[in-house]
Amino acid sequence: MFSLGIVGAGQFAGGFAKLFDAHPGVSRVTVTDLLADRATKLASELGRAAVVADVEAMLASDVDAVGIFTQRWTHGPLVVKALRAGKHVYSAVPMAYTAEEIGAIIDAVRETGLTYMMGETSYYNPVTVLARQKAAAGDFGRLFYAEGDYVHDMDHGFYAAYQYSGGADWKRTASFPPLKYPTHAIGGVLGAWGTHAISVSAIGIPDQRQDGVFDTSVSMFGNDFSNASALFGTADGGSLRTNEFRRVGLAEGVPESRFTYYGTEGILEQSALATVWHERSGGLHDLSDLVRPGEATGYDEAVLSGVDPKLRDSFVSGHAPVHDISRLPREFIGLGNGHMGSHHLLVDDFVTAVNKRELPSVNAWVAARYTLPGIVAHESALRDGERLRIDDFGDASTAG
Ligand SMILES: NC(=O)c1ccc[n+]([C@@H]2O[C@H](COP(=O)([O-])OP(=O)(O)OC[C@H]3O[C@@H](n4cnc5c(N)ncnc54)[C@H](O)[C@@H]3O)[C@@H](O)[C@H]2O)c1
Repeated sequence: MFSLGIVGAGQFAGGFAKLFDAHPGVSRVTVTDLLADRATKLASELGRAAVVADVEAMLASDVDAVGIFTQRWTHGPLVVKALRAGKHVYSAVPMAYTAEEIGAIIDAVRETGLTYMMGETSYYNPVTVLARQKAAAGDFGRLFYAEGDYVHDMDHGFYAAYQYSGGADWKRTASFPPLKYPTHAIGGVLGAWGTHAISVSAIGIPDQRQDGVFDTSVSMFGNDFSNASALFGTADGGSLRTNEFRRVGLAEGVPESRFTYYGTEGILEQSALATVWHERSGGLHDLSDLVRPGEATGYDEAVLSGVDPKLRDSFVSGHAPVHDISRLPREFIGLGNGHMGSHHLLVDDFVTAVNKRELPSVNAWVAARYTLPGIVAHESALRDGERLRIDDFGDASTAG
């Protein structure tokens, strides 16, 4: 059992803090935020959580681990500081903003032997889980091409989110370069396909809304791309295309992440309305029900007996049938989930990895393969699509 500190009590942290607090593998939760009232509010929602003044106080305290839920460009230095202070780290995506920051995290994980995990929600996207099962069974034959999209229109919640996050200065930060938030698209593909990107050519599309958001003279990232596409070469000789769109006519309510995988024996194809499996031998199968949140599998009805039927149903139906939730603690029943059932599974992965001293699913080496390609892709887009090489930090199992 270990104790955990939440760093950053903004929009995304709350649901995770509640899951960490409820997990039987976590003894207590402490909270901090630059804005003290946010930390106090979250702590009061949790009930028994303490508040500390700042991240320095958190790292000087006796907490065993921290969850970093600060803004997306701030993770790298905070994660390294936490690891160097002897804390295990769970980090919201992306891993870091620069290649140097990623290298520093890998070094710190290797040298301290502590657990690092990036909470990539696409790792448990039901279509990714299904593709992972099909890849493991060899059903694709040779996987040689995939598409990963993260298409989230600014008008679908992002204006409000950036205003909450950035205060009066929010327009400076709302221009976060789409390709530097690459993990939902890349992670959803590589979460099934055991390869990594080794080169990229990308195109960025300058924004035309002229509302001061994607404006290089306002942007703290000097960025005016609101949409971008990248074509990656993979280590096994295949290719992978991602789209990162922030101005896009996606109907509201349609999942923003979408994946399609091409193999020599079969194709798993996801669209807004259906997920279908093509077999080269001729079969076409509609697998939409398997990947739609509904009735999850693997749970033990005996464990759920005595639980309020409404809570039981919301727990089971918060996940898709393709999700095996048998390992989740009973304490999660009745708690919120999110991003297609991924939050419960990610929290349990981290807690289990720390307590059992195992490598977590999205460990530092995996996280680097989900994040660095996007950083290099943004550079390629800035250089008018010049094809650039992507470094690799290797496999976790051989990394030390
Ligand atoms: N699907 C997903 O995986 C997903 C979805 C949403 C958000 N996120 C990630 O979650 C993270 C948080 O997003 P959010 O929307 O909650 O942001 P937010 O701006 O609402 O919250 C961040 C909070 O961190 C605090 N903070 C910043 N620096 C700090 C520091 N040094 N010490 C203490 N507190 C600090 C801020 O005051 C703020 O309250 C981001 O990195 C984002 O990329 C991931």
